[in-house]
Amino acid sequence: MHLGNTIRRGYKLISMTVQEIKNRFRIIGNSPLLDRAIDVARQVAATDLSVLITGESGTGKEVFPQIIHQSSARKHNHYIAVNCGAIPEGTIDSELFGHEKGSFTGAHDTRKGYFEVADGGTIFLDEVGELPLPTQVRLLRVLETGEYIRVGSSKVLKTNVRIVAATNVNMLLLMEKGRFREDLYYRLNTVPLIIPPLRERKEDIPLLFRRFTSDFADKYHMPPIKLTHDAEEMLVNYYWKGNIRQLKNVTEQISVIEKKREIDAKTIATYLPDNSISTLPALFRPSGAGENGIPNELSEKELLYKILFELRKDMIDLKSIVYGFLDKGENAGPVSGGGTRILNKLDTDIHKVETAMQIHPAKHIDVQIQENHAKDAEIGQTLDDKEREIIRTTVEKHHGNKKAAAKELGISERTLFRKIKDE
Ligand SMILES: Nc1ncnc2c1ncn2[C@@H]1O[C@H](COP(=O)(O)OP(=O)(O)OP(=O)(O)O)[C@@H](O)[C@H]1O
Ligand SMILES: [Mg+2]
Repeated sequence: MHLGNTIRRGYKLISMTVQEIKNRFRIIGNSPLLDRAIDVARQVAATDLSVLITGESGTGKEVFPQIIHQSSARKHNHYIAVNCGAIPEGTIDSELFGHEKGSFTGAHDTRKGYFEVADGGTIFLDEVGELPLPTQVRLLRVLETGEYIRVGSSKVLKTNVRIVAATNVNMLLLMEKGRFREDLYYRLNTVPLIIPPLRERKEDIPLLFRRFTSDFADKYHMPPIKLTHDAEEMLVNYYWKGNIRQLKNVTEQISVIEKKREIDAKTIATYLPDNSISTLPALFRPSGAGENGIPNELSEKELLYKILFELRKDMIDLKSIVYGFLDKGENAGPVSGGGTRILNKLDTDIHKVETAMQIHPAKHIDVQIQENHAKDAEIGQTLDDKEREIIRTTVEKHHGNKKAAAKELGISERTLFRKIKDE
């Protein structure tokens, strides 16, 4: 049948390897998650299936619809990228499906929509979550039957368009709020393509940085900037909320602003805003900073322990407020029923996380507020023990190779040495 032919024709087109695709589309990175996404794109290209690309803002979603189009049998026909969030609600139907002359004020001529122009080709619907609900109904119809009607017309037209959509928002939440049709979501999401955030492909950060520094050196006719070892480590362990786009912007700023071409950690730190989880003040050790006033690197596990530790402490304080400092424990009369309910919920939530992480600091600290200080020490003790245990087993796993152990723990070798010395 039709789809079978397309697949057969398409299979011949999958001649490009993942590496060739990277070269052609100037994609930097070697992480397995990135390679996997490219491989899915090249395989699905040969079919007419709809693809929904998801991933945080700035992860590099935009190149994928092009990979799919260029590796498909449709590559000699139109490719149209539509930013659904940028078109006013009043005109989006007309843009996508066209309109008849006189169908609304200002419609002086009949106009073809993208679905008509791209017949035989591919339409990329970027920010698809922004589509208004009535447009979603029209889109579902064209996806299911290939049929659509221009605004102001009653004549049914046919088209053969392949849809690739992308979003950086949580579509499940949108559906829950009634802002996105579930039937359309499942129709679009025939093949999900997930683009990983930069923090899950840390190994690509130095590669991307080097590419960007060399691009900006060319652009601004300056020697490329270089990083000290500590600075590179800081870059690799940063949270990168804005992903590759943010890394690119930071690299450009540093390339232009810094006179000295070797950049140290202290300088890098001034370009990294505090939106990173690793810079929440509560998460640092009391000393707060390592050399040069730069925060010590913490592994994700360490961060979680510290968040839990802070949460537990906050809960004890809250209990003091809700029960009153003289209260003798949970069973004594609470000040307010609502407060107790919230406390109990908070308590249960923290407990769930602790259980999931297999730590049990909650065992001793729940009841007597008078003993808060002693209890704090106990929690700290438990967390420190846990940290020591993780460090010991990781170093053992790597047969004493501290460099490898530090890498796995997500901390610098220097931090690891200090922690072992502190034991
Ligand atoms: N692997 C990569 N190699 C080189 N540059 C990349 C890579 N991935 C992304 N970029 C660059 O990062 C920037 C952001 O990518 P892109 O515009 O595709 O993000 P996005 O996922 O569409 O984000 P948003 O959801 O905000 O639209 C672009 O300048 C892009 O060229
Ligand atoms: Mg985008």
